[in-house]
Order: sequence, then C-alpha cells, then structure tokens
Amino acid sequence: MKKLVFLTGAGISAESGISTFRDSDGLWEKYPVEQVASIEGYYRDPALVIDFYNKRREQLLTTVPNEAHKLVAALDEHFDTTVVTQNVDDLHERAGSKHIIHLHGELMKATSSANPNDPRCIVSLTPDKLNIEIGDKAKDGSQLRPFIVWFGEAVPKMEEAAKAAMEADIFVIIGTSLNVYPAAGLVSYVPRDAQLYLIDPKPVKVPYGLDIHTIQKGATEGMRELMEILLAQQ
Ligand code: APR
Repeated sequence: MKKLVFLTGAGISAESGISTFRDSDGLWEKYPVEQVASIEGYYRDPALVIDFYNKRREQLLTTVPNEAHKLVAALDEHFDTTVVTQNVDDLHERAGSKHIIHLHGELMKATSSANPNDPRCIVSLTPDKLNIEIGDKAKDGSQLRPFIVWFGEAVPKMEEAAKAAMEADIFVIIGTSLNVYPAAGLVSYVPRDAQLYLIDPKPVKVPYGLDIHTIQKGATEGMRELMEILLAQQ
C-alpha cells in the first residue's frame, strides 16, 4: 500500500465550528497568544491558562468531526495513512483515523508541570473529570497542566512526524497556514518524487520550488476532490 501522510491544521476543524487561530475571527484575535499558549504565560498565571484550556475542552465536548475528518479516515482503507496534526482536538480520532501524531499535544489529556513529557504523568481527561483545577496533582506531585505543547517548548513528536514525511508517497496539507515551525517545516522532509497536495480556501505560502497541486477549497469540498484524484490512481 502506498504511504499517504496528512499534515492538518485548525482549518480542518473549522467546519466543525472550532475557530482557527489566524483567520479574521481567530482565537489569537481574542486572546494574546503569549498569555495563554506559551510556557512563560503558564508560569505567569497558571490559573488563567488552565481556565483557557478548560473552556476549549468544554467546547470540544459539543463538537463533532466533520466530513473532511471522515474522508481522511476513509482513506485508511486504500492507503497506509498517517495523520500528522497540529490540532489538539480529538476529531481525527473520533472520525476513525488510526495512526495520528499530535505535534502540539492533546486537549483531552493532562500532564505534569514538572515533567510534561513523562508518559507516567500523562492522563486522559473524561467528561466527568473534564476540567483541571489549581491543586490537582500529577503523579509526580506537581500541578496538573494541559498536555499541550506551548510556544517556547520542544515538539517531541517532530522526529516521528519527519520520519513519516520522509517515507510519504503522497503528502496532503489541509487547513494550516504553515506559519508555525517546526510543524510547517515537515514539507521539506517529503521526497521530491512524492505527490504533494494542499487544500485551503485561501492561498498559502509554501516553501519555494515545491511542485504542489493546490485545491483552493474548504476541507470537505477539497477532500471530496482529492478522493476522486487519489482513487482514480488506484
Ligand atoms: N477548510 C480548510 N482550511 C480552512 C478552512 C476550511 N473550512 N477555514 C480556514 N482554513 C485555513 C485558513 O485559510 C488557514 O490557512 O486554515 C488555516 C488555519 O491557519 P491557522 O489559523 O494559522 O491554524 P494552524 O495553521 O493550524 O496554526 C498552527 O499555531 O497557534 C498555533 O498551536 C497553534 O497548532 C496551531 C498552530
């Protein structure tokens, strides 16, 4: 089976009602990113940051995968698929994708403030224990924090994602402005002879010299068009 790798961003969840970051009504317009999505912001005001993610987690409970997530998952039948996502929502999981790499963490998990990547401290949050409170402790006794990769922190899954990109026969970018590194740098790991697609309603600046097939549509419409192209090649 050919290896199909996706790099998805906030745009694929836009049709599920989750706002993106840098579109006109984006999240970073309402909140200063340094305050709520950086390691400095967390240490400056942990309660404010914990509350910001509690609110996004509550919203996620009322959100469902859209058709684009489902079409990505449906391709598992035809390709050896890996979904590398910058999104912290669990919509790819709930749509049925099996192999998902979350570069920026997972909203439905919590971890240690002292050792955020210690697997023994990473716990799943559930609808009946959805919120993190000040005073909640991780297994190492430190304050429990969102399992999110904040600006200023390393991206531990980047190596695994780069390996997937290097092995891709087909690489599809959906719903990301490619503004944030190292995630955006994944494109440069893709072999020159791989097929490259980009689905986004707006033009996206991509690294020079790449031969990219652009589908300038929303995620669902774009995925329908891509499915036709890919399945016609089978
Ligand atoms: N379908 C597909 N793409 C869409 C749609 C849609 N319906 N609506 C918007 N988009 C596109 C926008 O045109 C834009 O290119 O989704 C992209 C969203 O870009 P950003 O808001 O920058 O989100 P993203 O690229 O995922 O941000 C990367 O930045 O703040 C950090 O950690 C955060 O993971 C996030 C990272």
